[in-house]
Amino acid sequence: MAGITCLPCWRSKAWAACWMPDSMRRLLVLATGGTIAGRQTAGGGYRAGQIEGQELLAHSGLDGSGLHIDVEDIASVGSQDMNQAIWLRLARRIEAAAVSGGFDGVVVTHGTDTMEETAFFLSRVLAVPFPVVLTGAMRPADAPDADGPVNLRHALLLAAQPVPDSAGNVLVAFNGNVHAAQWLRKVSASGLVAFASPGACPLGTFIGDHIRWTPGVAAPASRRYSLPASAGAWPKVGVIYAHAGMEPEQVRACTDLGWDGWVLAGVGNGNASGACLAVLAEAAERGAVVVRSRRCIDGWVTRAAEVDDDALGFVAAGIYDVPQSRILLMLALAETRQRELIQQHFLQ
Ligand code: SIN
Repeated sequence: MAGITCLPCWRSKAWAACWMPDSMRRLLVLATGGTIAGRQTAGGGYRAGQIEGQELLAHSGLDGSGLHIDVEDIASVGSQDMNQAIWLRLARRIEAAAVSGGFDGVVVTHGTDTMEETAFFLSRVLAVPFPVVLTGAMRPADAPDADGPVNLRHALLLAAQPVPDSAGNVLVAFNGNVHAAQWLRKVSASGLVAFASPGACPLGTFIGDHIRWTPGVAAPASRRYSLPASAGAWPKVGVIYAHAGMEPEQVRACTDLGWDGWVLAGVGNGNASGACLAVLAEAAERGAVVVRSRRCIDGWVTRAAEVDDDALGFVAAGIYDVPQSRILLMLALAETRQRELIQQHFLQ
């Protein structure tokens, strides 16, 4: 039997939404650092990534709960220093956990600053038969009101249970909500309500230790990409942020780097001043792939609506926001450099 149903839910026939893990479940926690592993410093600040995964687990209230939980430290960084090399280590370790067959779920502890990027990346490269759940915290581990312990507890409970297929295989448990990697966005630089799923809504909500899955909300199915052979093999893709009064020299300073691709964090529907678009079009002419994404928190960047993508040689990002577009473009460029094909990747 995979789990135990609690009595009130069994009586109310709501058992699918309320599931308690049994002691046969085996989880792997991969710690990467972040504020969840942070310690306060004299003077009111804190340093991220100071505490090892095993100690984090001890604060979750689930150490010794009967769940079998293995813990490994993959990295110990503030997530502003998260990079492709750590992503590769993480993805390979999760793949190995799937191949060895001993685990029912994986939890990744992570800084909140780039959690949405790691979640999106993993969702595009992993095809594993168990849930991968990321979590973190906005307050360091030794703060009196630390949010890490409950977030980690929720992540472990989520990873220990069967997740509906519609939720996708990479999830984030944070501040009592369950988010899909596809929709996740950090929306607050300081508050506990740090994440949202703009354009959708959380897949579920914790009520105590139980999850209520939101009816009718599903993570879209997505294409899977191969992992690059090494961190050095990733195509180089940067971001250019558009704004009022932007000057073409700013754009040229970037495109002169000769990188493989650029994502425009465009105003409105992925737009920028005519002079800046002209510099990007020159870069596209020279072979860089230019993707027009959006500064706006939500919405769809439409191909050839306001901007003539065909004439300028651009790719429209569709539903993907700026950090997602950068990751998707790196993964797509590892497969092809043909702009028309890359455009298809952004329409899926
Ligand atoms: C980080 O992203 O590592 C620092 C901020 C945080 O975890 O909230």
